[in-house]
Amino acid sequence: MAPLVHMQKGGRQGLTAGCPSRSARRAPVHCSTRRALKVAAVNSGGPNHRVPFNTNVNAPPRIQLPGFLQPASSSSQHHQPHHNQQQQHRPDLNMTPPMEGAFKATGRTVVITGGSQGVGRAAALLFARKGYNVVVAAREAARLAYVADDCAAAAGRAGAALAVPTDVTQERQVQALVNSVLSKFERVDAVVQCAGVFGRGAVEDTPAMEARRLMEVNYLGPYLVTQAFLPVLLKAGARAMGTSSSSSSAGVGGGGVGLPGIGGLLGGGERPSLVFLTGFSGRVPTKHMGAFSASKAALESLAASLRTEVEGQGVHVGVVQPGLVRSNLMERAAFYGRNSEEDRRSFRQMLRTLPMAQSPGEVAEAIWGCVASRSPEVAVGLPFAAAAQAYRLTGINPSATPFT
Ligand SMILES: NC(=O)c1ccc[n+]([C@@H]2O[C@H](COP(=O)([O-])OP(=O)(O)OC[C@H]3O[C@@H](n4cnc5c(N)ncnc54)[C@H](OP(=O)(O)O)[C@@H]3O)[C@@H](O)[C@H]2O)c1
Repeated sequence: MAPLVHMQKGGRQGLTAGCPSRSARRAPVHCSTRRALKVAAVNSGGPNHRVPFNTNVNAPPRIQLPGFLQPASSSSQHHQPHHNQQQQHRPDLNMTPPMEGAFKATGRTVVITGGSQGVGRAAALLFARKGYNVVVAAREAARLAYVADDCAAAAGRAGAALAVPTDVTQERQVQALVNSVLSKFERVDAVVQCAGVFGRGAVEDTPAMEARRLMEVNYLGPYLVTQAFLPVLLKAGARAMGTSSSSSSAGVGGGGVGLPGIGGLLGGGERPSLVFLTGFSGRVPTKHMGAFSASKAALESLAASLRTEVEGQGVHVGVVQPGLVRSNLMERAAFYGRNSEEDRRSFRQMLRTLPMAQSPGEVAEAIWGCVASRSPEVAVGLPFAAAAQAYRLTGINPSATPFT
């Protein structure tokens, strides 16, 4: 079972937003932590920089603890030594303490794969601000822990976020993710699949191994995550449709009575969502991105097939298609061909400067819109949506023009 990284109060002591304090720098740091610190430092001015510690202190705590169970006083936190300016200006969070033991956190819960950075991280923060419990999953534990920390602060509840290091291509780790979620949260309302990698190069130059990597992370991973969460989502769907035969609410969205036919009327809950991040290239096969396009097209096809199977059972299946996002996807991107280094440089430049490139926050808003409206498909960015529609209608591929 994958180790859990629980959100720890004060776990970020000695850190400003992306800058280790002197004491933190002296302390021995785990290799992945050091890498995370480095990235955080790089990110501090970049498009993917970390948000201020708490972006929403107004979210009311969900669980009103009786007075005698309230933490002695938040002032005890204030007696801790301040390591830096940033901490001195932190607002009084007055967060609800995490619940331990057999208790499960109530309230809506979203699971976000690829939640450690970029679109996934932006979506995690947005859902937290909207009042959701948030579970983030990706491979690197240190980054995930920071995001969970930020989500808990954004939600105003220490128990509102959970980081579960997971490689989505590993079936056992994915199953461990489901178990971790269900042991901490009462229900799952949405699973948003942002985990993905990027590769670029002509088919002639791209090794089969790279095509396999892209297919495994971008398609097989979401397939495994879908299979693992489907039983939970189907139960929630049945409850929302009022067709559930069980009155137990453990592990499923909604908290209704569950009597056949009237669950919806009695507050059986909302339909749960399963959202896939595909992309423009999944819709429009893109030149020099054959292996990547194929992996995203496979995901589009999976989502469309799945929709025919589960929508009737109350599970919403949505697809969000970003165009080009100013995230740090270049960290994991591979380029192939004779001019691969030059291609990498110009692609990075395009990502930074192209006016129609989107921010992770814009894509996160699209994901939120997809879940809130139960849309089957949301294309992000008007130029990309228009080009995809034109391709659908005319067959003209914008990447096949003589200028591309
Ligand atoms: N950026 C774009 O221009 C663009 C365009 C179209 C579509 N998209 C899609 O949008 C989604 C988000 O992209 P992004 O720009 O936010 O990318 P990103 O910044 O590179 O983030 C990718 C996330 O996926 C995680 N990940 C990678 N491999 C994984 C694995 N095997 N198991 C679990 N997690 C894994 C990464 O964390 P770890 O490495 O720690 O696991 C990271 O959290 C992706 O599916 C991407 O294909 C992006």
